[in-house]
Amino acid sequence: MSEKTRQLPRLLREICAEHGISIHGFSGDWIFEMDHQGKKAFVIGYKFPNNDAAMEQICDDKCALSDVLAHNQIPCVPHTYFMRPDNQYYMGTGGDWEKMMELLRRYGKVVCKSNSGSGGTNVFKASTMRELEAAVCHIFSVTQDLAIAPYVEVENEYRCIVCEGQVRLIYRKLRPFVVGDGKRTAAELIAAKTFAKLETDDGADLSYVPADGEKFEVSWKHNIGRGASPEIIEDPAVAEPLAAFALKAAGTVGARFASVDVIQTAEGLKVLEINSGVMMEGFAAASAENYARAKAIYGDALLAYFARA
Ligand SMILES: Nc1ncnc2c1ncn2[C@@H]1O[C@H](COP(=O)(O)OP(=O)(O)O)[C@@H](O)[C@H]1O
Ligand SMILES: [Mg+2]
Repeated sequence: MSEKTRQLPRLLREICAEHGISIHGFSGDWIFEMDHQGKKAFVIGYKFPNNDAAMEQICDDKCALSDVLAHNQIPCVPHTYFMRPDNQYYMGTGGDWEKMMELLRRYGKVVCKSNSGSGGTNVFKASTMRELEAAVCHIFSVTQDLAIAPYVEVENEYRCIVCEGQVRLIYRKLRPFVVGDGKRTAAELIAAKTFAKLETDDGADLSYVPADGEKFEVSWKHNIGRGASPEIIEDPAVAEPLAAFALKAAGTVGARFASVDVIQTAEGLKVLEINSGVMMEGFAAASAENYARAKAIYGDALLAYFARA
């Protein structure tokens, strides 16, 4: 995503203009310095100054976060940490392969991912030793550490935006899908629909012809940047339990401004991850109404920070 197509620079500039805050962008608008009544605030990427540094580091580390949440009895998807073998100095000489294989045997199906990744990049399913080996080799070739989690049947994944003790927005991430017409193959239906940046499942049978009206899910991932779409949750029966759960999870790690990704499973709600950066690009770009909503949230986060600074 280039600085030309990103929503955040425009959102921040509008917020600052409306509140008499001076703003200066650096590094192609990936860093902003803002000055308000003698106080300074910085935004880098999607990270705002509201959170403390240790909390941000814990959230950006999927394994550290799951350890902290589990210790505090917050239901979450357990993530086990592995470091690349050339970091032997930190991990001893015994190696980790046996432990990785044991996780696969225990769970039957696992998800291997870069421990500090985002956007669904380098996230793989594995249900055989060969798939596990391929995923681990790939992830270690591009990053220093990885996380292995049990594969969980995700009924729904929600993003809850927590801002200063309130949940300001909840949206469901709808996995990318096409609807059959009984004639065209999945590949043809995908080609005819405009997806932002689509990832299709390895091994998916795209020559399959879905029946008329049949929903065909194209990917198992819920990343908006990979073709999933946001659906705002307004129904209090769905929103209220999610908000209470997300606030409890955010409060446990002391997150003031963060995105809490919650999955609904047969065993109830669980935290999948918490992002200490609040990224609403796909959401804000989807409509003028969404844009206004994202702007109100970013604006309130910034003003709350200045009020405290
Ligand atoms: N343990 C898991 N079980 C089932 N699906 C998962 C699991 N972990 C991740 N996923 C799927 O992969 C997507 C990306 O994984 P996530 O952990 O959120 O990484 P990222 O930070 O790259 O978004 C999720 O939105 C979800 O759809
Ligand atoms: Mg995610």
